[in-house]
Amino acid sequence: MVRTAVFSSACGAPAPAPIVRVVSDSIDLDGLLTRFRGELAGTEDEAGLYQLQVAYLGKKGQVTALSKSLGSLAPEDRKAAGERINAVKRACEEEIAARAAELRSRARQRELARIEDVSAVRPRALGTFHPITQTRRALEQVFGELGFDIEDGPHVEFARFNFDDLNIGPDHPARDMADTFFVQPAAGSGRMVDELVLRTHTSPVQIRTMRARKPPIRIVALGTVFRRDDDATHSPMFHQIEGLCVDEGVSMADLRATLYRFVGAFFGRELEVRFRPSFFPFVEPGAEFDMQCPFCGGSGCSTCKSSGWIELGGSGMVHPAVFEACGIDPERYTGWAFGFGIDRMAMLMHQIHDLRLMFDGDIRFAEQFPC
Ligand code: DAH
Repeated sequence: MVRTAVFSSACGAPAPAPIVRVVSDSIDLDGLLTRFRGELAGTEDEAGLYQLQVAYLGKKGQVTALSKSLGSLAPEDRKAAGERINAVKRACEEEIAARAAELRSRARQRELARIEDVSAVRPRALGTFHPITQTRRALEQVFGELGFDIEDGPHVEFARFNFDDLNIGPDHPARDMADTFFVQPAAGSGRMVDELVLRTHTSPVQIRTMRARKPPIRIVALGTVFRRDDDATHSPMFHQIEGLCVDEGVSMADLRATLYRFVGAFFGRELEVRFRPSFFPFVEPGAEFDMQCPFCGGSGCSTCKSSGWIELGGSGMVHPAVFEACGIDPERYTGWAFGFGIDRMAMLMHQIHDLRLMFDGDIRFAEQFPC
């Protein structure tokens, strides 16, 4: 039995040329196009359109299925029905393309509206420097103003510069595998490489500087150092500053005066500095140095553990053997050196009690120290 169907433009979509016609009961073009337009009107994005396209025009789609069912019609009806199905297919294609263009245009309008609305632009949060970087910069600033040049050295260092030339002999405990990270040269590289280590202190920068420059020398070197240590007060990676001054007639009094000036400039108030005799292979005499506690002024508080003093680092007069290793005449020149931890300094300034917090990489920690 044959019936007549008239397609009209339902649902407000752009109307295709009316496809009027006669198809069998089993080929309901009218119903199909109505369904299609209903679904098309509900699509909101490219993905939805693609799904619709597959559902109607894909290999297993509804329009394709209709074409396949042409065989069920009487032979005389097939040609006309085939043409009408093709017309429906074209209509679906055109309406999908039109809807895609419409969705794209709407998205563009939305984007433009967002950009033009300046109130929609939120200010970005500014990053801050890590407290260690802040401390490092402050130290560079103070020593720069005191007339020191800033030097640098590599993290992977020759064992010779890290130990031997600093008068740290082969049997010194610091050279033990338990304290030092040794670096293996690439296997099979066939290169003769001096023994390499991750530098255990910034003191090898003294050696590099004295090998490269003639006195007068006045430098500080700040940077990362590495040791096999890991607990609440030690990290396998930490930071030090090294100071070196070499010239004719340089004395321990100059060292003391420099440390005194530094501490005063850094903490913005006059603070005493004291030496305690100590031993480091690369200086003679050697001393540890403390500063008067900047928090209580020496009267005793929890930071200085009621002692009134805070230990800072090591120092002393450059050992003649170190000068000789660097080709500097120890008869003519004298020099002093010092070294201390930057991390401890940062902890002191910011009242941070656990060193590990510094290296956890937790952004919430860093955000507490705006620069
Ligand atoms: N390099 C020493 C350390 O890591 C610190 C030090 C002590 C540096 C005495 C010096 C110095 O320049 O004279 O413990």
